[in-house]
Amino acid sequence: MNILAIETSCDETSASIIKDGKIEVSTVINSQMDIHKAYGGVVPEIASRHHVENITLVIEEVLEKSKMNIESIDAFAVTYGPGLIGSLLIGLEAAKTLSLIYNKPLIPVHHISGHIYANNLVGSLKFPLICLVISGGHTEILYMKDNYKYKILGSTLDDAVGEAYDKVARVLDFEYPGGPVVDKLSEKGVDSYVLPMPLDDDTYNFSFSGLKSAVINLINKERMKKNDIRKEDLCASFQNIIVKTLVKKTMRAVKQYKVKQLLLAGGVSANKQIRKTFEEECNKINIELLVPPIKYCTDNAAMIGCSAFYKKVKKNDYKINPKSVERLK
Ligand code: KG4
Ligand code: ZN
Repeated sequence: MNILAIETSCDETSASIIKDGKIEVSTVINSQMDIHKAYGGVVPEIASRHHVENITLVIEEVLEKSKMNIESIDAFAVTYGPGLIGSLLIGLEAAKTLSLIYNKPLIPVHHISGHIYANNLVGSLKFPLICLVISGGHTEILYMKDNYKYKILGSTLDDAVGEAYDKVARVLDFEYPGGPVVDKLSEKGVDSYVLPMPLDDDTYNFSFSGLKSAVINLINKERMKKNDIRKEDLCASFQNIIVKTLVKKTMRAVKQYKVKQLLLAGGVSANKQIRKTFEEECNKINIELLVPPIKYCTDNAAMIGCSAFYKKVKKNDYKINPKSVERLK
């Protein structure tokens, strides 16, 4: 089954053709990152306008690259939320139109479900499993007993991990998105700044805004005193605490729920130290770890095509609207 998937929830216009939920035929990602860098973050109106300009080009290009014609596509999948309304709308309307014209199924996919199924590009999901979702907008520990059976064990009470990374990076004058810059600099740094440990309790919830504020206050105080900030060391100290917190709670869930696999998902799972530490922790207790390929950790349509394959859709719903906030289902 060949699914043509579309993803436009934020600042990437992407289309992909995925066979049987796991084989990537081809993917095109048109990123607007360089445009939004000038503003220090994604500007929704600018993002929507660029999606309008790019959507047909990206769909044409993915068909060309795959040497397939649109008649050989079996279904159209698209991210319907959560995300920026104006951006989602462009992808959703494109997918609805294609589904109507070619009389093929329309599969609306939750963005986070897409991030989770990006793991299908590297292995097969084995249930029950635990998935740690870490992105710019989400931080959640999920339990899955089967495809599309999501149970949220805990989530962030305030900032998402990626958001904390980006906000700290912004105060350090790094370009957007700051997560990859902090990741890189922390490799050269030493964990030598004292920072508070976030929400260290027996729930599966997280809280990163206290840590983020502590780092920002520290930077401001040092600047006022005209002291140099050891950026590498500060990045290493901040990242170490993030990794410790994520690992502690996630590995507790893995043990408590006696799962077969641990999955990482979302943009922050591109982080080198996070990938390495989870690999070491999983090796210790003989648990299989799946992590998406680095280029498919951040937003892309390949993950949407993977997830769509497992979604049961009885009837095409052309009334479906984009959702800025949406529970995972
Ligand atoms: O999943 P994603 O592309 O978008 C959302 O659905 O939110 O995630 C983007 C987030 C940004 O906050 C970005 O800074 C972060 O992922 N990110 C990283 C790394 N690469 C991307 N954070 C830490 N280390 C990285 N290497
Ligand atoms: Zn995302």
